[in-house]
Amino acid sequence: MEETNLTDLIHKKTFNITTFGCQMNEHDSEIMAGMLIEKGYEQTADRSKADIVIFNTCSIRENADKRFFGTLGQLKHRKEEEGDAFTVCVCGCMMQQQHIIDQLKSKYPWVDVVYGTHNLHHLPELLDNLYEEKKKQLEIWDDAEGIVENLPAKRLFKHKSFVNIMYGCNNFCSYCIVPYTRGRERSRRPEDIVSEVRRLTLDGVKEVTLLGQNVNSYKGQSASGEAADFTDLIYMLAEIEGLERIRFMTSHPKDLSDKLIEAFRTCDKLCKYIHLPVQAGSDKVLKEMNRKYTGQSYLELVDKLRRACPDIAISTDIIVGFPGETESDFEDTLNLVRKVGYDSAFTFLYSVRQGTPAAAREDQVPEEVKHERFNRLVEEINSSSAEKNKAYIGRVEKVLVDGVSRNRDNAYEGRTDSFKLVNFEGPEGLEGQIVPVRITGANTFSLVGQLAEE
Ligand code: SAH
Ligand code: SF4
Ligand code: F3S
Repeated sequence: MEETNLTDLIHKKTFNITTFGCQMNEHDSEIMAGMLIEKGYEQTADRSKADIVIFNTCSIRENADKRFFGTLGQLKHRKEEEGDAFTVCVCGCMMQQQHIIDQLKSKYPWVDVVYGTHNLHHLPELLDNLYEEKKKQLEIWDDAEGIVENLPAKRLFKHKSFVNIMYGCNNFCSYCIVPYTRGRERSRRPEDIVSEVRRLTLDGVKEVTLLGQNVNSYKGQSASGEAADFTDLIYMLAEIEGLERIRFMTSHPKDLSDKLIEAFRTCDKLCKYIHLPVQAGSDKVLKEMNRKYTGQSYLELVDKLRRACPDIAISTDIIVGFPGETESDFEDTLNLVRKVGYDSAFTFLYSVRQGTPAAAREDQVPEEVKHERFNRLVEEINSSSAEKNKAYIGRVEKVLVDGVSRNRDNAYEGRTDSFKLVNFEGPEGLEGQIVPVRITGANTFSLVGQLAEE
C-alpha cells in the first residue's frame, strides 16, 4: 500500500487552541495551528470535540491566571474518562513562571504537554514524543536560542495579518511580568520581515500589523551588516506592491522618534493611528513605574504627532491604583487624559505580579479605592471617545472590510485607516476589500455608515 493511502486511513487527530492575552499570543496560536496543520492534524472550533486541546496562556494580570485555571479544571473529568485518547497541552506566558509550573504539577498532573514561549516551535515534536514514548512532555527554556524563521501560520483573516518584528522586552516597567515571560529583546532581520510580508501580499494580505512589545526599539541588522531602525523598516515595507496598510503595536513613548513621527506625514501606507501607552499622569508614579518619561514630555509627543498628522487617532493603556498612588496622583492622570483627548483607551486595575518590583511594595492601594478611581477614569475616556467619534459624521472613510458585523444584522464590519470600527450595509462580496463608507452615526465604541461612491 502506498504511504499516502495509509495516511488517509489513519484518523486525523483534531486540535483546538484557546488563546488568552495579547496579539503576540494570538499570533503564536496562528503559528501553532500552521505547524499542526502541516503535520496533518485538523483544526476544529469545538473544544469539547477536539482530540488535542491547547491553552495559550497570559500572565499580565491576576484574573488572566484565574480564568485559565478555571477553564483548565473543567477538562479533568474528560481526561479521566478518555485517558490517552485525549491530549491536553498548555503553553504561553504563564508557563515561563516556576510557581505556575509547580502548581500545574501538584494540582493538574493529568496535563500531557507543557511548554514555554521560547519552545513554541517544538510543539509537533513534543506531540510525537508524547504519542511514541507515552510519557508526559515538559519543555521550558529560560531564554530563547535566537529566532526561528519560516514557521507556517494559519491566519485568522485572509486579507490581514500580524507580523512579528521583534520578541521580548528590555524595559522592566516595575509592574510588568512580560520581560520575565518573553525574555530579552531580539529583532528579526529586515530582509526576513520584508520577504514574509511579500509572501503574505501574494496570498491576498492588504494590511499588516507589525508586532513587538516596543517596536520603537527595533534594531534590525541585515545579513550583510546593514542596520535598519523601525522607521527604515516601515519605508522598506511600504515599497511592497499589493500591501496597502501598515500598522504596529505597541510603541513606548520614551523611544518614539521624530523620524517615525515624520513617517506619519510622508508615508501613505502607514495608518494614521498610534497606540501610545501612557500608564499614568503623575510624574512620581511614572518614575516609580520606571517608564522614563514625564506627563509633560508625553503631552509634547502628542502635540508633535498631531502637528505632523492632524487626523491621527491616539489610544492608550492606563493602570489605576499602582502602589502608592494618591488621589492627587490619580487626578494628574485624569488631567492628562482630558488634555490628550484619546480616541480610546484600555484601562486596567493594577494587579500584583509575583517577581516584579512593584509587587513587593507595602503601600498597595485598597481594592475599593482602585475601583472608584477606575470608574471615574472610564467615564472620562468614554466621553472623549464619543466626542472623537462624533467628529467623523459626514466624512467618507476608506474601510477595510473584515466580514459580517457581529453587532448588526445584515451589515459588514471593518476598520478605518484610523482603526475605528465601522458597521455598514453593502452588497455581497465586499469582505477583504477597501471600500469608501460615508459615516452617518457615531457611538462610543464604533461608527455606523453607508457604502459611498468611489
Ligand atoms: N509592551 C506594551 C504593553 C504590553 S502589556 C507597552 O509597554 O506598551 C499591556 C498593558 O497591560 C500595559 O500597557 C499595561 O497597561 C497593562 N499591564 C501590564 N502589567 C500590568 C499589571 N501588573 N497590572 C495591571 N495592568 C498591567
Ligand atoms: Fe511590560 Fe513595560 Fe515591556 Fe510594555 S514596555 S511589555 S509594559 S515591561
Ligand atoms: Fe499576556 Fe504574555 Fe501578551 S503576559 S499580554 S500574553 S506577552
